[in-house]
Amino acid sequence: MSAGNERFSAEAASWDANPYVHRASENALQAILQARPDLVEHKEQKQNGTAAAQGLDVLEIGCGTGLLTLRMAPFVHNIVAVDAAQGMIDTLKQKLAKAAEDNKETGARLQEAVTPVCVLLEDSESPALPPADPSDLSGNGPRRKFDLAISHLVLHHIPDHPLLLKTLFGCLKSGGQLALTDFENFGPEARRFHPESRMDGVEFHGIEASQFAEQMRAAGFVDVVVKPAWTMDKAVERFPGDWNAGKPKGVELETMAFPFLLCRGTKP
Ligand SMILES: C[S@@+](CC[C@H](N)C(=O)[O-])C[C@H]1O[C@@H](n2cnc3c(N)ncnc32)[C@H](O)[C@@H]1O
Repeated sequence: MSAGNERFSAEAASWDANPYVHRASENALQAILQARPDLVEHKEQKQNGTAAAQGLDVLEIGCGTGLLTLRMAPFVHNIVAVDAAQGMIDTLKQKLAKAAEDNKETGARLQEAVTPVCVLLEDSESPALPPADPSDLSGNGPRRKFDLAISHLVLHHIPDHPLLLKTLFGCLKSGGQLALTDFENFGPEARRFHPESRMDGVEFHGIEASQFAEQMRAAGFVDVVVKPAWTMDKAVERFPGDWNAGKPKGVELETMAFPFLLCRGTKP
């Protein structure tokens, strides 16, 4: 993970320059909203002043620069956005500060809704997570539990999925749900998702649906459904190493369609 951590910190400032990451995050948001229409209802109720409940507490693991986080924020009560790379968290904090500068009211709402945290999350009781009791500043008390845990394009960077799922299980309230998205490992061609020069920190060439579903059940999740939710066309190397540091050398590009999985399950 440390190679990946350094890579992601170094790439944070230029992360958003890649058009694919925006499109993929928008697709992830739409897939999650389709699976959880209550999020859309909550946003509408907040807008017309009829919201009876405060909305969901969400945990996002591997938030990066906040592309999904900031899209998700208007639909929830709060989103704790966790990333192991300090560069990514700094970039998300800069975006929140800029939003507050641009518009005091909406910026303040966004800052209230998003809690950026830099940690390699491998423990549901990590002191880096907010406390269950907001007045407990000791760092030793029980940590906040969540209604929903999300991630996007993160699973393929995590070497130990059973440990991740155990951690997320521990982070959820009873009845809390997972909604994790990543590209599917549909066979050897899935390797082409990343150019050969950007394989640092890539642990898997996508996620195998049936194996991951089995790991979710083994971690204690019920009502597990892992299936493709959308397909994204992406330019790929015509042959391994054809791009230099991710930039196409020639004008001819090859495009491939990558299926993305939505992995859902509930903590009983
Ligand atoms: C490919 S990036 C995706 C970022 C963002 N979700 C997006 O789509 O733009 C993967 C991110 O996951 C983070 N990450 C991987 N494992 C993590 C863990 N266990 N805890 C927190 N962050 C993690 C990395 O630091 C990296 O920023």
